[in-house]
Amino acid sequence: MTELEAILAEIDPARLPRHVAIIMDGNGRWARSKGLPRSDGHAEGVTSVHRAVEFASDLGIEYLTLYAFSTENWNRPPEEVETLMYLIGWAIERELPDLIRNNVRIRLIGDIPRIPEKAREKLLNAERATSSCTGLTLGMCLSYSSRWEITEAARRLARLAADGKLDPEVIDENILASNLSTAGMPDPDLLIRTGGEQRISNFLLWQIAYSELCFTPVLWPDFGKKDFAEAILDYQNRERRFGKTSGQINDNIPDETYGLSSGSAEDLLT
Ligand code: IPE
Ligand code: IPE
Ligand code: MG
Repeated sequence: MTELEAILAEIDPARLPRHVAIIMDGNGRWARSKGLPRSDGHAEGVTSVHRAVEFASDLGIEYLTLYAFSTENWNRPPEEVETLMYLIGWAIERELPDLIRNNVRIRLIGDIPRIPEKAREKLLNAERATSSCTGLTLGMCLSYSSRWEITEAARRLARLAADGKLDPEVIDENILASNLSTAGMPDPDLLIRTGGEQRISNFLLWQIAYSELCFTPVLWPDFGKKDFAEAILDYQNRERRFGKTSGQINDNIPDETYGLSSGSAEDLLT
């Protein structure tokens, strides 16, 4: 039995995360460690994306959302941005037949009109061509940032209200969520960040309110199926409480009690 098979055997297929989101970080450092230009790291990162999609699809995960390019990444040196855009277009075109064969549906998330035309056409074509696929939904976050998305939603709702088409009093969490780029998708159960940083970098701020966070030092190009499987196993060993107490959601603690041990707060505090 390989190491991967051993971890897979421990994963409970009935308790898989429905939605896994990944901040794919560390391409530049991977390249630097090998004395290569940063963009070689991005090229290697494409192979890692292929692997992660295959893994999620085979395991039966419903949604995989990948942070591929942030709004802030537009501020990188033009040569790196240009290469990234080229790679994104090239990769989606190359992968399309495989995605269709595996019933993977592409969903573009972010300020897509801002993507240069050549790559944008290939992305939109892949989204169209996979629109009736019913397996894994692969969210591709491109020119995406959470603050951008929430600002857009606020503007849209404000416009509707100003036009008299929406009563501000009826705006609730569901209405706000349905105006985000992820409308209709469940919130991520598990968020993985590779590359060692422990930050969110403007990713899905609204949607990860109750996600389990997993930070790994593994650089994205090195992130393999074993690392992915380990993250899922780690997720399954956590207790998600959503603000409740352990006893409320866990039958193993039937004797959890909730009042004060002493009749009054004064007795305990003096
Ligand atoms: C992630 O890798 C890919 C993108 C942000 C596009 P980085 O390019 O950020 O790699 P590091 O963090 O510099 O190693
Ligand atoms: C986050 O990585 C964005 C993507 C992975 C696409 P960055 O490398 O841009 O994040 P920071 O700058 O380290 O926070
Ligand atoms: Mg980075």
